[in-house]
Amino acid sequence: MTTEVQKMSSVTVRVPAKVNVQLSVGPLREDGYHDLVNVFHAVSIHDEVTARQARSITVSVTGGWAAEVPLHDGNLAVRAARALAERAGFGGGAELVIHKAIPVAGGMAGGSADAAGALVACDELWGLGLPREELMEIAAELGSDVPFSLLGGTAIGTGRGERLTPLPVGGPFHWVFAIADTGLSTPEVYKECDRLRGTAPVPEPKADEELLAALRNGDAAALGRRLANDLQEAALALHPPLAGTLRSGLDAGALGAIVSGSGPTCAFLARDAAHAAELAGVLAATPGTRTALPAEGPAPGATLI
Ligand code: C5P
Repeated sequence: MTTEVQKMSSVTVRVPAKVNVQLSVGPLREDGYHDLVNVFHAVSIHDEVTARQARSITVSVTGGWAAEVPLHDGNLAVRAARALAERAGFGGGAELVIHKAIPVAGGMAGGSADAAGALVACDELWGLGLPREELMEIAAELGSDVPFSLLGGTAIGTGRGERLTPLPVGGPFHWVFAIADTGLSTPEVYKECDRLRGTAPVPEPKADEELLAALRNGDAAALGRRLANDLQEAALALHPPLAGTLRSGLDAGALGAIVSGSGPTCAFLARDAAHAAELAGVLAATPGTRTALPAEGPAPGATLI
C-alpha cells in the first residue's frame, strides 16, 4: 500500500438548476443590489462540470446550449476556478469541460451552477479539501445565486440571496419548465422592476408562511396557489409573449405558473410525473417556446459523481 497522495486526473460534478418559488424584492440598495426573500428550490435539470489536470485554467462547453455560453473571462466557472486557486494559494490549472443542459440566460441559475460545479471539482482535483463554509464564501463573492447552487435542496435566501437557511420539504414536487427561444439579462430585469415601481415606497420583503407550510407538507396544490415572483411583471414587460406561455400552462391544468427568477423560463407545477409529461407536451407546442422539460424538486446541490 502506498501512502503517497494520489492526484485525481479527472473529476466530474453534477449541479442542479433552480426555480424561485417565492422571490420578493425589496428596495434598491446603495450598492446596486436589492434585499430579497428568495425561496430557492433546486430541480433535476443538471449541468456537469468536469475538471482535468492542466497547466492553466481553460473552459469548453458541450451540449445544446454550447454556442450561447461565454468563454474565457466572462465565464463564471473560470472565474470560480481562479478565485479558488487564489484563495488557496494554488499555482496550477484545470481544463474545465461543461456539459450544459440548464438554459443560458434563462432565470434558472445556469451560470451559477457551473461556478458551483467548478469550485467543487477544482477543490477535489487540486486536493485542497477546503471546508464547505469557505467554498460558500467564495461562492457568495462570485454571485448571489452561487451559494445555493452548492447547497441545493430548498432554502430561503436573504440579503442579496446569498445568506441561506435550508427548509424542510415534504415533496417531491413535479415541474415543467418552458424554455423560451430567447434570453433575458438579470440586471436589466431588476432595472425594469425598479422602473415599473417608480417612486412608490417598497416594503421590506417577508417570507410567505403559507408557502413555507405548503413546502413542508408536500402540498403541491397549495404551493401552486402561493407561487410569487416580484420580477415577473418586469420580465413580462421586457418579453410580452411570456404571458401567453403562462396562460397555456394554466389552461392545460397546471397547479401554478410563474416566471423562473429573472426569466424568461416559465415554471409550471404539476400534480404528478404523468401530469408533468402531459403539460410538457402542450407547452412544447406553445409559440416562442424552444423546449419544455419535466423535472422534479428538490434536487441535491453540487455533487461529485
Ligand atoms: O449577484 P449577481 O452577479 O448574480 O447579480 C446580477 C445582477 O442582478 C446584479 O448586478 C444586480 O443588478 C441584480 N441583483 C440585484 N439584487 C440581488 C441580486 C441581483 O439587484 N439581490
